[in-house]
Amino acid sequence: MKYTDRIMLECTINGRAFESDIIPGMPLADLLREQGLLSVKQGCCVGECGACTVLVDDIAVDSCLYLAVWAAGKQIRTLEGETRGEQLSPLQQAYAKSGAVQCGFCTPGFIMATKAMLAKPHDTPLTILEIRRGLAGNLCRCTGYQTIVNTVQSYEQENK
Ligand code: FES
Ligand code: FES
Repeated sequence: MKYTDRIMLECTINGRAFESDIIPGMPLADLLREQGLLSVKQGCCVGECGACTVLVDDIAVDSCLYLAVWAAGKQIRTLEGETRGEQLSPLQQAYAKSGAVQCGFCTPGFIMATKAMLAKPHDTPLTILEIRRGLAGNLCRCTGYQTIVNTVQSYEQENK
């Protein structure tokens, strides 16, 4: 296959069927941003910051490192899929109300990583340490993390 050859991709993005021919080496982050899903941030583009985190079949991935072709047949979710029109999701509201958002650049990635973490089966509410470990792949230059961790813990306790 030549580099210029294109390949057909069929997947679901935020609940809607998606079909397009793409360059095989295209990162998923690029594809999603080309579709106008600008919550998918490109910070480091080398898998270090987590700003590009999206869900692929409910698993959090760094979409800067994840090839779009790997998403064939899978369900992709970005932060845009969490909102209902202008209405923020309860998790987005929790982040916003508690001061876990400052510049906001990292926030979409944190929220998607939080969603994936909370969806994993666990019998008891997550501890601070477990939340810190679960969000270790996401970097924030503004909040100092404790507010984010506290927000996630409170959110889980209030939404059991
Ligand atoms: Fe993907 Fe930083 S932009 S991990
Ligand atoms: Fe600014 Fe996290 S809120 S980088």
